Amino acid sequence: QLKMVTIGGGSSYTPELIEGYIKRQDQLPIKEIWLVDIPAGEKKLNIVGEMARRMVKKSGLDWKIITTLDRRAALKDADFVSTQFRVGLMAARVKDERIPGSYGFLGQETNGAGGIFKAFRTVPVILDIVKDMKELCPDAWLINFTNPSGMITEAIQHYGKWPRVIGLCNVPVMAMMTEPQTIGRELKDLTYKFAGIDHFHWHRVWDKTGKEVTMEIIDKMYEGKDAGLPKNIFEINFFKEQLEQMKMIPCGYHRYYYRQEEMLNHSLEEFDNGATRAQEVIKIEHELFKLYQDPNLNYKPKQLAERGGAHYSDAACESIASIYADKRTHMVVSTLNNGAIPDLPSDHTVEVSAQIGAAGAIPLTFGPFQPAERGWIQLMKNMELVIDKAAVTGDYGLALQAFIMNPLIPSGQKAKDLLDEMLVANKEFLPQF
Ligand code: NAD
Ligand code: G6P
Ligand code: MN
Ligand code: MN
Repeated sequence: QLKMVTIGGGSSYTPELIEGYIKRQDQLPIKEIWLVDIPAGEKKLNIVGEMARRMVKKSGLDWKIITTLDRRAALKDADFVSTQFRVGLMAARVKDERIPGSYGFLGQETNGAGGIFKAFRTVPVILDIVKDMKELCPDAWLINFTNPSGMITEAIQHYGKWPRVIGLCNVPVMAMMTEPQTIGRELKDLTYKFAGIDHFHWHRVWDKTGKEVTMEIIDKMYEGKDAGLPKNIFEINFFKEQLEQMKMIPCGYHRYYYRQEEMLNHSLEEFDNGATRAQEVIKIEHELFKLYQDPNLNYKPKQLAERGGAHYSDAACESIASIYADKRTHMVVSTLNNGAIPDLPSDHTVEVSAQIGAAGAIPLTFGPFQPAERGWIQLMKNMELVIDKAAVTGDYGLALQAFIMNPLIPSGQKAKDLLDEMLVANKEFLPQF
């Protein structure tokens, strides 16, 4: 019988996770679900915990939901640990978006200067969790959802020396949920191959006769709305001629790089209006928590679909069920490259199609990229390595290098001033600097 632990349990996403477990009740013999948070999140944790209990009860299950601020008690003898926490809470995200915005740069949760600082704040905490896990649940699997998901998974593997980790994102899930119907097919009849890194990957698709349908999907992307695009990303089309040359489907986040000018202008407009994504999310969360407090609500409310991370539980719960029951399903996860992308080192984390089973993630070979994509991915992955090393060592020069490498931060004096200002603004959460 399984002991599941979720760190950052007070998240408004938790009901989705519970729903995912309930859907898989026949595959997962769950005994307890421990929801862990910190004192600042205690109120949210209690509301979400009650909500989870109602959902479980409605399904006639006897799972015990335990809410706690004692992480070590939760980790003791855990089987699966999932992480979905936000160091510095939403106030830190507001800074990640607004401080770069005040310099005329892009402010975003996982890209640009904001994404770099989210890594700086999160890496020390995740490494501390790994340390506890080595002592308290050395056989457990760690399912990481905490952003920046790829860099956090890299830190867990490379610096935490913890191999039993799967890094997740809902972006590939949403692509596979929405694309098949645009070409009148079903997912079960298609073969998907993804490769890249988290929030910077591409994919190709084949039908069951072996014919590649990537270009068919791309054509459909230009008729109407991209239904697979997460709610937090402003929609602007890629240049069609670029995709025709590339012959791959870029993920939604590539917009920040392929249409940098337009995405920046949009983000600066939001900045001027005092309406960046964090501020919008605060409103959505307010509404969600009002709903969660309704003692009659015992299912995931539809308003949760307004969050960018909607459907992540399909990835989280399916990967857990696949490992536990050795299902060997196809999923897109952050895991060790192991040669799947020959353009990147083997011993670092990539986000790729993989077979998920009892042995963890076994990545599928994607093969080499064309020079344009090879150039991008080598820059972006090596930037991630610089960021993680800076996050572990607190080396100022490395942090500056990361800023200068990042395509969304124009290099120069303003970049250095921004770095300095963000170091001061985040001081409380940066013990390493
Ligand atoms: P949130 O602000 O609701 O934070 C979740 C919980 O974490 C809060 O209750 C908070 O109190 C708690 N927390 C903060 N620091 C903690 C710590 N040190 N230990 C334990 N708990 C702590 O955030 P959210 O919007 O629910 O997102 C949670 C995380 O998931 C974020 O890192 C976010 O970026 C990430 N996320 C990832 C994806 C993805 O695709 N991988 C999608 C959406 C969100
Ligand atoms: C996305 C992603 C996440 C991202 C989140 C933001 O689509 O995959 O990694 O950070 O949603 O959602 P939010 O609702 O918090 O803006
Ligand atoms: Mn993501
Ligand atoms: Mn730069």
